[in-house]
Amino acid sequence: MELRDKVVVVTGGASGIGTGLCRRFREEGVRGLVIADLNGDVAADLAAEVGGKSYALDVRDEAALAAMVAETEVEFGQIDLFCSNAGILNLDDGNFWATSSPNEIWQRNWEVHVMAHIYAARACLPDMIRRGEGYFLHTVSAAGLLTQPYTAAYATTKHAAIGFAESLAITHGDDGVKVSCLCPQAVDTAMLGGTDGGAAGLDGILSPAQVAEVVVQGLREESFLILPHEQVEQYHRNKGQDYNRWIGGMRKLRRSMRPPTLP
Ligand SMILES: NC(=O)c1ccc[n+]([C@@H]2O[C@H](COP(=O)([O-])OP(=O)(O)OC[C@H]3O[C@@H](n4cnc5c(N)ncnc54)[C@H](O)[C@@H]3O)[C@@H](O)[C@H]2O)c1
Repeated sequence: MELRDKVVVVTGGASGIGTGLCRRFREEGVRGLVIADLNGDVAADLAAEVGGKSYALDVRDEAALAAMVAETEVEFGQIDLFCSNAGILNLDDGNFWATSSPNEIWQRNWEVHVMAHIYAARACLPDMIRRGEGYFLHTVSAAGLLTQPYTAAYATTKHAAIGFAESLAITHGDDGVKVSCLCPQAVDTAMLGGTDGGAAGLDGILSPAQVAEVVVQGLREESFLILPHEQVEQYHRNKGQDYNRWIGGMRKLRRSMRPPTLP
């Protein structure tokens, strides 16, 4: 997909990778840019900067998300690319059967990382199928392909996000609908909180602008996996080739890490 003259929605656009995407998409000459975030004030500031429209929106609220999609379709005629990018990170201390990962955290991760993607697909698909074209970009994570120690709720729901994206691509590819999953390791955003990123940071920390550059190329190539850290492709292949050996390697990696300090 070429982004020029396209209508694009970005959730979680008020910070980090989402902001990087919005700025880069504007440079590509998108026709309409809708920025949706829990943090409506910052989304509005970014919309003023890049010439977009903002919504204060919780992506876990299906009715609000559907209303935003409907309004965008009325205003612009269509949504060409919906970027489900909003995300949260909850670290655990490895005792995830106990208090460091209560049900509320699992539920919130499930709703933000999976249900929100389903809500976006439900809202956008009728128009996309009618037109015979449309594109979903899901910001997942390398943790969705490879897991990550000390963040079970995050890694598990990111795997589920990949599963849903696969279903979407397989079921609606013949309708002209494209899907990409963005799976970076560490990126220098608020989510990283100034840390070295732990296991995710071992191959280096990219800037949101670097990630956005790779995304534009990945969308151009219409690649299902967009991997800003190129090492991830080999790690994923290793996992597929010898699962037992891969689990052994991950256990070794976990042993080498200190449990995070939780608030
Ligand atoms: N930073 C990294 O190292 C990294 C690595 C891999 C994947 N990711 C993924 O990238 C995406 C963006 O994260 P980021 O690093 O830019 O983090 P960030 O914290 O800088 O930005 C996340 C944005 O999502 C918004 N958000 C959170 N919950 C929301 C909700 N319920 N409704 C609407 N908006 C909501 C936040 O307000 C924030 O603006 C996430 O899906 C994250 O899992 C990040």
